[in-house]
Amino acid sequence: MTTTVPARAGSGQESIRFPSDFRWGVATAAYQIEGAVAEDGRTPSIWDTFSRVPGAVVNGDTGDQACDHYHRSDDDVALMADLGVGWYRFSVAWPRVRPDGGPANPAGLAFYDRLVDQLLARGIEPWLTLYHWDLPQALEDAGGWTQRDTAERFAEYAVTTHDALGDRVSVWSTHNEPWCAAFLGYSAGVHAPGRRDGADGLRAAHHLLLGHGLATTELRARGADTLGITLNLTVADPADPDDPADVDAARRVDALQNRVFLDPITRAEYPQDLLDDTEHLGWTDVVLDGDLETIAAPIDVLGVNYYHGDSVTARFGDGRTGSSPFVGSQVSTTIRDLPLTAMGWEVQPEGLTRLLLRLHEEHPDLPLVVTENGAAYDDVVGPDGTVDDPDRLAYIADHLRAVHAARAAGADVRGYFAWSLLDNFEWAEGYARRFGLVHVDYASQRRTPKASARWYAEVCRTGIVPGTEGLR
Ligand code: FCB
Repeated sequence: MTTTVPARAGSGQESIRFPSDFRWGVATAAYQIEGAVAEDGRTPSIWDTFSRVPGAVVNGDTGDQACDHYHRSDDDVALMADLGVGWYRFSVAWPRVRPDGGPANPAGLAFYDRLVDQLLARGIEPWLTLYHWDLPQALEDAGGWTQRDTAERFAEYAVTTHDALGDRVSVWSTHNEPWCAAFLGYSAGVHAPGRRDGADGLRAAHHLLLGHGLATTELRARGADTLGITLNLTVADPADPDDPADVDAARRVDALQNRVFLDPITRAEYPQDLLDDTEHLGWTDVVLDGDLETIAAPIDVLGVNYYHGDSVTARFGDGRTGSSPFVGSQVSTTIRDLPLTAMGWEVQPEGLTRLLLRLHEEHPDLPLVVTENGAAYDDVVGPDGTVDDPDRLAYIADHLRAVHAARAAGADVRGYFAWSLLDNFEWAEGYARRFGLVHVDYASQRRTPKASARWYAEVCRTGIVPGTEGLR
């Protein structure tokens, strides 16, 4: 398959149409937008701590204020209603609901209770994620995700949240991108909690999976309608498909990013090649009898976050390779001749088509939803106060074409969420990277829908991604 990408969306392309039952949404996450980190009983999470480590986050930014969404949810839900989205994917902050991982906190739950009502009043269906990386710091102090106990505390928190919101929220997703939480957090040290240990990343991955399985079982027993998890899966291509070392490196990346989660969830086993590759790390002592059966509790939907694929090589130091957080594996990713976003991420929409088709082929009965896709660009506010963001608009249009192509080839993809509703705290990049359809001026907290927001609203309304003539 070719990897060329049109410079602008739709160039030379026909309009495409999604069916009326295809669902459109926008996504956010608690720590990235809420602010109000010490209000109504919330206690610190690992991101409150990590963002204060000198050098951990660009410009020393923290989520202390973020988009102040905690105080502005009325306005933000109104913005969503203007966009015409049918779904809003947000995460609940564990340290609000069970501060320090301890007893339930009604004042913290009240915020989400109100948010859910605000959404439903506007005809927007909530898609709730329980864990988008904000582990209570007190639990990290006790060992965090490297400890089994954290998985059990997570299931308790899931039940507390479901007890409060389960009468109105039908879609429950356990984790967002456990790969990042485990490997960026515990092996590469570039995300909270900033630990650097190959085995700890794998232990964390296992306990995140165990927490997923325990919570899924508990919520299923309580009648939750739709249960799932969101994974950030990659398309790992060998940089040189004729070089057996690169082919093997791509296999290892596939094991360490994709199959490490997919196989336990869908087949109750870790991939044998992953176990072989990581045997020297001695992490499997945390896998107890029965765990894999717990992890494989049936799910109703798989959330897929996709920003780009990876070109993988076994060679280092040729000037075109970057370091990689893949533990126990001498692999690296190379930069291809593709356009880059402001994150330095390659724009590779055809990878999304391949990924969705692969998932459908391997798991034909598992409905798929693209739970995140979007791009950071250096937006400029024009003299008239508007923000024209043709690159973001093009990125989303091209990825919607990729989703459409996957559907046409048989993939059961039910919906798409743009990341993100608002510019927000982009983890280690702080506020330096803007992913929003809506621009946020952090000093005044003014929201300004960008050109991409107006365009996306039309897509949500019509189900049509216009060709060249309709774009600008
Ligand atoms: C994903 C995260 C999300 C956001 C996007 C850009 O990895 O899930 O919170 O930061 O990347």
